[in-house]
Amino acid sequence: MNQPSGPFIAPAAPAGSPGQKTARSAHAHPHDAAADQAAIGVALPHESAALHVSGEATYTDDIPERHGTLHAALGLSRHAHARIVSLDLGAVRSAPGVIAVFTAADIPGENNCGPVVHDDPILADGEVLYLGQPVFVVIATSHDLARRAAALAKSDDVVGYEPLEAVLTVADAKAKKQFVLPPLHLTRGAPAERIAAAPHRIAGTFEVGGQEQFYLEGQIAYALPQEMDGMHVYSSTQHPTEMQQVVAHMLGWPVHSVVCECRRMGGGFGGKESQSALFACVAALAAHKLRRPVKLRADRDDDFMITGKRHDATYEYEAGFDERGRLVGARVEIALRAGFSADLSGAVATRALCHFDNAYYLSDVEIVALACKTNTQSNTAFRGFGGPQGALVMEVLMDSIARELGLDPLDVRRANFYGIGERDETPYGQRVEDNILEPLVDELLASSDYRARRAALAELNARSPVLKRGIALTPVKFGISFNVPFLNQAGALVHVYKDGSVLVNHGGTEMGQGLNTKVAQVVANAFGLPLSRVRVSATDTSKVANTSATAASTGSDLNGKAAEDAACKIRARLAELAAQRLGGDARDVTFAGGAVQSNGAAMPFAQLVSAAYLARVQLWSDGFYATPKVHWDPATLTGHPFYYFAYGAAVSEVVIDTLTGEWKLLRADLLHDAGRSINPAIDIGQIEGGFIQGMGWLTTEELWWNHDGRLMTHAPSTYKIPAVSDTPAAFNVQLFRNDNAEPTVFRSKAVGEPPLLLSFSVLLAIRDAIAAAVPDARRAPPLRAPATPEAILDALDALHADATIADEHGPSREPGSQPTAVHVKADTAA
Ligand code: MTE
Ligand code: MOS
Repeated sequence: MNQPSGPFIAPAAPAGSPGQKTARSAHAHPHDAAADQAAIGVALPHESAALHVSGEATYTDDIPERHGTLHAALGLSRHAHARIVSLDLGAVRSAPGVIAVFTAADIPGENNCGPVVHDDPILADGEVLYLGQPVFVVIATSHDLARRAAALAKSDDVVGYEPLEAVLTVADAKAKKQFVLPPLHLTRGAPAERIAAAPHRIAGTFEVGGQEQFYLEGQIAYALPQEMDGMHVYSSTQHPTEMQQVVAHMLGWPVHSVVCECRRMGGGFGGKESQSALFACVAALAAHKLRRPVKLRADRDDDFMITGKRHDATYEYEAGFDERGRLVGARVEIALRAGFSADLSGAVATRALCHFDNAYYLSDVEIVALACKTNTQSNTAFRGFGGPQGALVMEVLMDSIARELGLDPLDVRRANFYGIGERDETPYGQRVEDNILEPLVDELLASSDYRARRAALAELNARSPVLKRGIALTPVKFGISFNVPFLNQAGALVHVYKDGSVLVNHGGTEMGQGLNTKVAQVVANAFGLPLSRVRVSATDTSKVANTSATAASTGSDLNGKAAEDAACKIRARLAELAAQRLGGDARDVTFAGGAVQSNGAAMPFAQLVSAAYLARVQLWSDGFYATPKVHWDPATLTGHPFYYFAYGAAVSEVVIDTLTGEWKLLRADLLHDAGRSINPAIDIGQIEGGFIQGMGWLTTEELWWNHDGRLMTHAPSTYKIPAVSDTPAAFNVQLFRNDNAEPTVFRSKAVGEPPLLLSFSVLLAIRDAIAAAVPDARRAPPLRAPATPEAILDALDALHADATIADEHGPSREPGSQPTAVHVKADTAA
């Protein structure tokens, strides 16, 4: 998703796709746990689960340090926007333990680590563009000494600045028309006319904050110089190929001179898709200059100050609708804070635009997405990649319309759902052909008992003056694929060793999401082996080349297919040999339970492999996959950007304290479509984790910059991510039984990001509880996100004020608008 559009690559047709007549293709469904440990659809533990909990899993900082390893720390800018007028690093150089100090002037090649647009300096050159931007790097004998010396960046004697005007808010950037990329604008039909003629209208503004990825393992790189101008970089990264490329460009080397390796990350969540680059480049620069191994591990506060986060957004919207709440026209402007550089903001804005519709058909619609340039960290990928920001405002709109009409928000949602065979074209022109919204929501309604509980809450609230309950059901439809078509490709290497054990390497990266487990299951299944016979090795750019980031939830779709392709090529060769030895037709040979069968006879897999080696049969293979069907025209913002859609829905119930603004999630029921799940345990973990992470974004996680542009919430002391105690006491998470309509790997669906959007139900349940507290208020609670206790109290205050005014002057009629509204585009003439 991080490159300009390029050629569409035709799909490879991997051999042995599901459905082929062999035992290993008879996949077990998640709900009928099969005994064979290799089977697809079995709830197996994560391949590293035991290592994770015992502390034995090797992360980059755990790699034994090579003799002579030095440590790096970054000196950061103290201004949001300033010219560097003096740089006197003498005091830093003479600080204890310091070996060297480097600046932009020491970079031999390109001083840029930007993934698309070359506007991301590795080290600031002449000008700083945000507070926290790295200006120099200190190399010292220990991590601690490097940090102490780097802290001298705080002194005016070390770095002198001439402050320049800084743009710190989305509103300011919008007013100044400062964007990192040109605005995106998509119109279908005649929304303005349809809204003007609609029986009901609504208009308002909304805002949602950003979010720090808060991967448990921070950004880190360890660079080791190799012979003949080579560099080996261990990087905690979702995108080893890009790290390899930016390091090569930074050094002015050909790409083959650099290897990037990543065994696993302690979480990435999008934050290590492009933004691991600065750390990889700085470590490699120092390692190259000093001919010694150099490690750069950012302290948590520095990580917060340096790296970009989820884009916060402000919205202006208006919509026209009928008596049932069905939309006849909608317009929205989504203004995202890109920060100081483009990074991945173009693709994030595109995804926001493509997800405004969420689950709903919009006949006449206008969507504008702005990537606003501010003097703050450069915002980047974060689970959902703009999708959550696009869909959230639509859900707020649905809720506001329902309150305006006095309907159950669920009924308004259902009235707007995409149809089947009609009302099924997205604003960007792709038809929704795999719609399962109705049956999924029906199943969730039954399992969560939504209607009865909603009625019970109304009674409960009537008797409870201070504590108020709220409930909401929200659906998700999430497009799967990079919406830059050429990124949808992957490669894998499978080695079968002479003893019949198997090693897999693929281009994806493991960040806790279970990709390696799923890929190992796919390969084990292809050979009919137990999972213990398959090992997945570290991601390494010298094994599989030119990979895409593990992102957009496509990891197992892409790499699972590529690994299956490789395994099936080897299996086909083995089947030939088995047929020769055992008799029968190669096409009828089966691989199951560690044995190979043909013609009624069987032999152990290992024995066949050993025979194959002696017969000089190639026992390793590459594999490749390119997602079919996807195309996208960035000029018109139309096409078929997604191979398929993933769906889900959630019901959340909260209680709020109307005196303090405190709240608690009491119960959540999630029903999510992971297709035919390869590993239900891992998928349920992803659904739970995504939901809770999304809830953090929408409720407790608040990024706050002061008037100088200094991020003041840069550690867990001031930035509150959910804890295990925030998990609701009743947490019912189920997979929706559904085979992917497209022939993905075992008909599974991507699951990494879509469940994050299920957390919308928490925000809207809070909104529902607030509405219950002020029954006379004639508008939807003006609740911003994150819905911190302060935000909840603000919303209550505004509603109370409304109700009082309504008593005196009749009802106030500005549904959906925020108390902080800059302006409301149109008054509602309901
Ligand atoms: N799960 C864990 N445990 N850690 C992570 O960093 N990243 C998420 C999601 N789930 C993440 C995670 C994001 S942003 C994406 S895009 C996907 O995993 C990437 O992996 P996949 O494509 O293999 O699902
Ligand atoms: Mo995920 S935001 O696509 O890394």
